[in-house]
Amino acid sequence: MKFLQSLIFILSISVAAYALFIYGFLELGIAVHPAMKKNFQAHSIGIYTHIFSSMIALLLGPFQFTKSLRIKKPTVHRLLGKFYFVSVLIGSISGLYMSFYSFGGTISHYGFGTLAILWFVTGMMAYSSIIKGNVVNHFKWIFINFALTFAAVTLRTGLGIGFASGLPFEVFYPYLAWLCWLPNLIAALFLLNTKFVRIEY
Ligand code: HEM
Repeated sequence: MKFLQSLIFILSISVAAYALFIYGFLELGIAVHPAMKKNFQAHSIGIYTHIFSSMIALLLGPFQFTKSLRIKKPTVHRLLGKFYFVSVLIGSISGLYMSFYSFGGTISHYGFGTLAILWFVTGMMAYSSIIKGNVVNHFKWIFINFALTFAAVTLRTGLGIGFASGLPFEVFYPYLAWLCWLPNLIAALFLLNTKFVRIEY
């Protein structure tokens, strides 16, 4: 489990750093399909809001799961947690907005749209559980929520597999809008019911 946690940590930071570099310093849409670039440029406020807020969630999420931070520095955990929730809130609303314009038609719109709604709802459930003092439910909801945040990493892995498979981008991308988060969600629900994930507080 330690190995998996470290891997998730490294991959999350790497994808967040990639997004910061590409979208913080280069021309908007330089690394995507020309049709996506056109969409991004037509909805630049939406895509920039989405990328920069979601990037913060992806950066902060892995730290929130470190036991030592939670136990030794609870005030830091609480502060970063608030930043995480605000990022998810803004990232999901802007992600939902962008899902209407996503590349790949109806399959993509529904895939990203469902992800955005689930990301928002699970984030709110995690926050309201801790406000009510229910640590067990807070952990379960945030575990599921971060599995959805991790869709940013799974999507990039899927893009690599898609390109390596030789299939045209137009063919595989719409399915990635679902495959980038459904396996994560199933894995999170499965892990929560095993002894590998223990809630320590
Ligand atoms: C978990 C909920 C998320 C939803 C619903 C979502 C939704 C979307 C949508 C609809 C697009 C536009 C795709 C298109 O035009 O075809 C997009 C692009 C993008 N999103 Fe997200 N996203 C989520 C999470 C994240 C996270 C956590 C990051 C963190 C880095 C992120 C970073 C990006 C980036 C960088 C792009 C631009 C496309 C690219 O460079 O590959 N997203 N997202």
